[in-house]
Amino acid sequence: MAQFIQCTEQNKNAIRDELIAGLLAPQAFTSPKYLYDALGSKLFEAICELPEYYPTRTEAAIFNAHAEDMAQAIGPGSTLIDLGAGNCVKAGRLLPLLHPAQYVPIDISVDFLREAVARLQQRFPAVDMTAVGMDFSSSLELPDAVRRDKRLFFYPGSSIGNFTPDESLRFLQRIRQACEPNGVADGAILIGIDLIKDAATLDAAYDDALGVTACFNLNLLQHLNHLLDADFNLRDWRHRGFFNPEQGRIEMHLEARTSLCVRWHGGERRFERGERIHTENSYKYTRENFMALLKSAGFGAMRTWTDPRGWFLICHAQAI
Ligand SMILES: C[S@@+](CC[C@H](N)C(=O)[O-])C[C@H]1O[C@@H](n2cnc3c(N)ncnc32)[C@H](O)[C@@H]1O
Repeated sequence: MAQFIQCTEQNKNAIRDELIAGLLAPQAFTSPKYLYDALGSKLFEAICELPEYYPTRTEAAIFNAHAEDMAQAIGPGSTLIDLGAGNCVKAGRLLPLLHPAQYVPIDISVDFLREAVARLQQRFPAVDMTAVGMDFSSSLELPDAVRRDKRLFFYPGSSIGNFTPDESLRFLQRIRQACEPNGVADGAILIGIDLIKDAATLDAAYDDALGVTACFNLNLLQHLNHLLDADFNLRDWRHRGFFNPEQGRIEMHLEARTSLCVRWHGGERRFERGERIHTENSYKYTRENFMALLKSAGFGAMRTWTDPRGWFLICHAQAI
């Protein structure tokens, strides 16, 4: 059976303080990590099936087309650390190719991860699996049970786009640091990046016709009701998802359908009709911009693979 480590028993007061500070800001916001409770993780799985949501499909096609080449670049025996592993499906495809010494899926959505890793362990009983429930946005301090040599940080799905470019650099620097826990830089990163493309394709991917992304975004309010003991009424809010070309990012917001007041234990906030809570950014990169970011963070010997339309990029880079 896979080992499961609940890293920090998440500090409920710190979470409350962070959320309330965001809700009371002049432009209200929440971190995208709060989109993922057990239902949010299931809704994200459904998003990946949508015709408009090209990233998962495009990334999978690149892996299929270049699997041997990637496996050769990476080599066997790595410590495969899956950042934001979700349903662990992507790692499930990599395990037979990479033959890692250990598989370490990490996710904030703890119950969903627990089930996913249990399923994966049944499929691959011989692989040493240690799952970690943690929020990696503030620290990448890994438990002692995680092997220290040949770490390969797997960060697919363009999840890095949730960070601003400055935050991304700091996060990549933290990964770079975690690549040499023994003082030897023998680690690497395998990362998926969504590339800048036409606005209509991007808009549709984050505002699908079926409304699954709208459900995913609205479910955040349900999660906030749980975390803050708040009284958001989901019917009072609508999803907005669009590409902001000036910032080079997708923005997701929740917009008040009417003037209203939201209350939580010890506080409240009034929202006028049309006022928004900013719930997610997803920055898009050019290949050159992202390579420059990796280089600044201390990575080199880069290999990249893309799809025929040039919509998505997978990059393997060595800590140097
Ligand atoms: C966009 S999904 C990607 C899931 C999967 N890796 C894929 O590519 O399909 C992002 C995943 O990262 C997790 N996540 C988001 N923020 C996190 C954080 N700060 N710490 C740990 N996990 C996080 C979410 O729960 C979710 O499973």
